[in-house]
Amino acid sequence: MHVEVLKGSHKPAMRALVEAIHQEQGLLPQFYWPNDLLGAELATAEALGVFEGETLTGFILYREVPDVWEISLVATHPQYRRRGYMEKLLEHMIAAKGQGRAIWLEVHEENVSAQKLYEKLGFKEVRRRPRYYKDGATAILYSVS
Ligand SMILES: CC(C)(COP(=O)(O)OP(=O)(O)OC[C@H]1O[C@@H](n2cnc3c(N)ncnc32)[C@H](O)[C@@H]1OP(=O)(O)O)[C@@H](O)C(=O)NCCC(=O)NCCS
Repeated sequence: MHVEVLKGSHKPAMRALVEAIHQEQGLLPQFYWPNDLLGAELATAEALGVFEGETLTGFILYREVPDVWEISLVATHPQYRRRGYMEKLLEHMIAAKGQGRAIWLEVHEENVSAQKLYEKLGFKEVRRRPRYYKDGATAILYSVS
């Protein structure tokens, strides 16, 4: 298992991983990345991936704004779930951010597995945004600093 900064050449693998999640669970509001939205995000965001050998098992997209890294996408391939890949990737990111910077992300109120992951890594709930998602669900904002 190792972590790498992802480049343009990794985009097909990132798209395939997102597609595998959509195949598994459908296009749910809690992980809503149709092609056009994903293409726009891949074009502008920073990307960090976790690998098993040559295989991309999970990745994160994020933006750097002063003092904050805002995560927009968190995904582990369905075949590689619950093996610590995303924990490893987020731990790497938390260590890399250095002191004085925070990481922010938001999660659908019903996405309990993601909430447990973030809480295990020390993220704290900051606030809630009611009716944030297409299905009317609340977004929970988490932060770690
Ligand atoms: C949420 C997600 C990224 C977790 O990735 P993962 O690589 O399977 O997570 P890890 O194996 O690193 O899990 C680390 C910890 O997170 C928590 N966790 C992860 N999946 C969980 C689940 N299904 N149920 C309960 N806790 C879970 C556990 O605390 C786990 O530690 P443990 O296995 O020692 O108990 C993955 O399920 C996923 O891609 N889901 C679909 C996309 C998504 O919802 N993204 C998040 C949007 S905010």
